[in-house]
Parts: sequence; C-alpha cells; structure tokens
Amino acid sequence: PEWKELLMRDHETTEKVFDAGEKAFAAGKPDPSMVKELLRYFVEYVDGCHNKKEENHLFPLLEKRGVSRQDGPLGVMLQEHTRSKELLARLEPLADTYVGGDDSVLHELSLIYAEYITLLKQHFWKENDILYPMGERALSQADGDKVVEGIAATEAAISPDTRAHYYKLADDLMRWGEIEDLCHNLDHDTLGAILNTLPVELSFVDANDTVRYFSHENLPKIFPRTRGAIGMQVQNCHPQKSVHLVNEILADFKAGKREVAEFWIDMGA
Ligand SMILES: [Fe+2]
Repeated sequence: PEWKELLMRDHETTEKVFDAGEKAFAAGKPDPSMVKELLRYFVEYVDGCHNKKEENHLFPLLEKRGVSRQDGPLGVMLQEHTRSKELLARLEPLADTYVGGDDSVLHELSLIYAEYITLLKQHFWKENDILYPMGERALSQADGDKVVEGIAATEAAISPDTRAHYYKLADDLMRWGEIEDLCHNLDHDTLGAILNTLPVELSFVDANDTVRYFSHENLPKIFPRTRGAIGMQVQNCHPQKSVHLVNEILADFKAGKREVAEFWIDMGA
C-alpha cells in the first residue's frame, strides 16, 4: 500500500479505540486494566510510532516539496502533535492513580480523555482530508516510496511486528469497549431510506433460504416484486425450470465455494 493508505489505516484503527474508551468512560467506572491498555496504545503507538512516521518521514519531505511549515498546514499539524503529547503527559499520572485504586481522579481523567480524543479526531480529519491529498499532489512516486520505506523503518526500530502487535491491541480494546457497528444508532426508517436511495435493488435471503427483505418497495423497480414474497422460500420465487440452478448456487454459497453468482437476463428491450 501507499503511504497515505498506511497512515489512514492507523487513523481508522485509532478512532475505533477512541470510541471504545469513550464508551467505557461514559458507562461509569471503566475497567482499570482497560484504562492501562488504552494509555499504552496511545503512548506507544499513536504518539511513539504513528506521529513519528509523519514527523520524521512525511512532513520533512513535504516541506522540501514546498508545503509550508511556518504558519502553514505542517505547522498546524506539528502543534497538534505537541498538544496531544501534553494531554497524554497529563493523562498518564491520572491513569496510574486510577489503576492504583484511587477513584477520586476519575472525573478529571475522563475530562482530559475527552479533550485528547476530540483534538485527535479533528487532527486526523484534517490530515485525511487536507494534508494527505495535498501530499499526494506534491510528492512524486519516488518520494512516496521513500515515505513508505520510512514508515517501515520507524516500525521496525520498535519491534519486528510493531503494526500487527498494536493493531491486535486495538482489536482487544474494541472488543473490551464493545463498540457497535455505525448503523447501531440509526432507526429502521433511516436505514430503510438509505437502502431505498441506493441506485441498485437489494433483496435479502437468510440462511434458511427465506426472503426477508427487498428495497425500493414503493418505487419503480427493474425486478418487480411485492411484499407477498417476504417469508417465501427463495426457490419459490424463481421459475420451476431454473430451481436446480438456484439450489446449486445456494449450496455453493453455503459450502464457501463461491461468493458471487452473476447472470444476465434478456429483458427483450
Ligand atoms: Fe496522523
């Protein structure tokens, strides 16, 4: 992958960790071991690895190619890195105290945690949406390869499997925080409206071959269907002569032998 994908994957992973921690704090008393691991992830990976990859490899090359540091985007990014380091330095002793069994610091700990993740979410957004695209325009392919090498070297200087190690830690934290899929907070009407807005028709058949859902119910469709289909076995929604093909495809799906079945229908137009 290119440097931009590598760095954005770090952001994406870290934002899930943010949410896991946020949920744990919102629920009241987070598990002290989780707080300890959260801090370890932020100190060792976000500050100690991700930011270093940018500061030592991406930013200097961008500056060389004309992206300004003083009063420019790089200056702002570096200030935010420094600010996030200061917040981490305040979080660490509070987390140690909390992990040591003193709950009196919990309120302050959660306030600074909120400040830290708010700062970094905005920071990541600026990098993803502004700085990285700017970087893609400013850097040649050879420049980009150099950044990728620098990223690999920064990770290798920590341990042979730095990224895998911390992505695994992030994964554990996500499970600990029980973060839900993004659609969790959407109601049915909103989800339905989203599906009906897609320029494709969707039908959903469950593991028992039962038709459970189709989109665009009251909208024009290429494949006309009505709610009478809901609850029917999918085999009964096809002409008798093609049922053996339908069953073959279903069997292959279930056996993991294929993931897609593509076919063309002559609509006579
Ligand atoms: Fe970043």
